[in-house]
Amino acid sequence: MMPDTATIALSDPQAAPQANPKDWPFETRPLSDVMGVEILGIDLADAVKPEIFPSVYQAFLKHQLILFQDVDLPPETQVKFAYAFGDVQTHVMDQYHGYGHREIFLLTNLDENGQPKGAHPDKGTMFWHTDGSWRPQTGLATMMYAEIVPDSGGETHFCDMQGAVDWLGEDWRARLSGMKAIHNLDFSRTRRHGEEPMTEEQKAKVPPVAHPILRTHPETGRLSIFLGDHAECIEGMDYDEGRALIEELNAAATPDQLVYRHRWKPGQCVVWDNRSLLHRATGYDTANQKRVMRRCTILGDRPY
Ligand code: SIN
Repeated sequence: MMPDTATIALSDPQAAPQANPKDWPFETRPLSDVMGVEILGIDLADAVKPEIFPSVYQAFLKHQLILFQDVDLPPETQVKFAYAFGDVQTHVMDQYHGYGHREIFLLTNLDENGQPKGAHPDKGTMFWHTDGSWRPQTGLATMMYAEIVPDSGGETHFCDMQGAVDWLGEDWRARLSGMKAIHNLDFSRTRRHGEEPMTEEQKAKVPPVAHPILRTHPETGRLSIFLGDHAECIEGMDYDEGRALIEELNAAATPDQLVYRHRWKPGQCVVWDNRSLLHRATGYDTANQKRVMRRCTILGDRPY
């Protein structure tokens, strides 16, 4: 089990760079005790160069989350950089596509005059989830860029689901072995943001899909808990019993000790591993504050 002392830390600009493999042509600074590093000494444009990208990708695998500061990232450049990580998802809810790019999921509370609308663009993002778990081929990574951030709130929290396997212990692990959850975007959308439901056409494109709850990371081999808010029920289990289990597990697997809370600054770009992390946004004053974030989700494999 993990120690129960709080290990949450916020990004500390004073923290010292840490030692890295000698061949990495950049330094890193830890963002917290649990996960995440800031990449120092190169910018994102350098990071996606073929001679540097393999080391950046190693840092991404090792730390689960990498941060670049002060990035000048027009939408088309974000899309180009996202493709360095793999194929980029076209989100089925095309009303969120931004700046004419099917690859960009735009989360903004601004109206056509650039003023706060007083409504959250997607309340489902405020519950622990992993991007694209409702697809057969789930998200490998998400690259999120902060254009405008509110004075307070609007953070993104990340929870280490590899750590959650140890945290939950052997009994849970044995219970979950071989168990699959059925993920369903229509379920989570209706539940959390039902005032703007998916269309019948959108629903038909993303039927519910079963994924193992204990998932093996395809690149590191580490086990993680793969669940979150898109999980509706358990394959082969009574619906209500499955719902109760999912609620219990989503809460039990996300203790504060495993969470990194990211407070955004404009111009930051974060890339995180969807195979081993859950994330959620925090609320903010949508009537008086502005928040504009762009997300590209890179597609991975089918969980096993
Ligand atoms: C998301 O859930 O993908 C977005 C998180 C955020 O808006 O902070």
